[in-house]
Amino acid sequence: MGIQFKNVSYSYRGLKVNYDALKQITVDIKPEGEFIAICGHTGSGKSTMVQHMNALLLPTAGNVVVFGQQLPPRRKEKINHLRQKVGLVFQFPEYQLFEETIIKDIMFGPKNFKDTEEVAYEKAKRAAAIVGIGEQLYEQSPFRISGGQMRRVAVAGILAMEPSVLVLDEPTRGLDPKGKNDLMAIFKELHEKQNKTVLLISHDMDLVSQYAQRVIVLKEGQLVFDGTKEALFAHSDFASFHLDLPTPLKILRHLETEAGIPYQPMYDYDSLLAYLQEVGHE
Ligand SMILES: Nc1ncnc2c1ncn2[C@@H]1O[C@H](COP(=O)(O)OP(=O)(O)O)[C@@H](O)[C@H]1O
Ligand SMILES: [Mg+2]
Repeated sequence: MGIQFKNVSYSYRGLKVNYDALKQITVDIKPEGEFIAICGHTGSGKSTMVQHMNALLLPTAGNVVVFGQQLPPRRKEKINHLRQKVGLVFQFPEYQLFEETIIKDIMFGPKNFKDTEEVAYEKAKRAAAIVGIGEQLYEQSPFRISGGQMRRVAVAGILAMEPSVLVLDEPTRGLDPKGKNDLMAIFKELHEKQNKTVLLISHDMDLVSQYAQRVIVLKEGQLVFDGTKEALFAHSDFASFHLDLPTPLKILRHLETEAGIPYQPMYDYDSLLAYLQEVGHE
């Protein structure tokens, strides 16, 4: 189960020419317990790739299997339910808020999947609690709260469908540092406490380094790396991926060349600090 890509290619059809956005991608994502970052330059195919995971896009060649269901579907099989199984939070998801109250917006997904009003309300309530939207906000307009809150309401709308896998397309983009950390803490908790598989598209290598276990790197529509973050940042061809190094690793490299402190990879600030205290005491 989970999500498998088998030689998946996707071309956007233009009036004159087609554009090959994905080229022969093969990848296997477990149904639970993974925290995967998808990285690569703008235009490398990240958003196109994740839209295959819940059947918003269907492969031009090859196939995708989502929780056992093959895409493109063999016959006239229904694929809508995959949007519940694999929850996709788009870039700037707050642009898709539209209901008159916050709670109605969060209930939209469950109701769309035919839950009763009561069940949808319960699910929305649970989702709102996860993202820290209190009951006092339920009846407010989603357009009269802060940008960070709007983003969290939009995420709650996806969580209310109780997806097995959560896919986040640049979820922290445009948020201030606190908004970023608050949101990442929510995803981390969903991963750790509910064992959910989380896929995170991000340009922010500090976030990738801090949260992801596995990293998939796309370059011009091709998969050029799929492995642990430890392997990625130690990769001899790292420069060819055109990714930034995370700040803790940059600092450690600098300290090695400028101060002779032995390089040991540390993936977040707390570990960096602990390491420097340790070498300082030796
Ligand atoms: N709707 C579309 N029509 C035509 N080309 C598109 C469309 N969406 C994306 N593309 C092109 O496909 C490539 C991959 O886009 P995308 O998957 O959005 O990349 P990323 O998310 O990595 O920035 C880009 O070159 C982009 O211009
Ligand atoms: Mg994108």
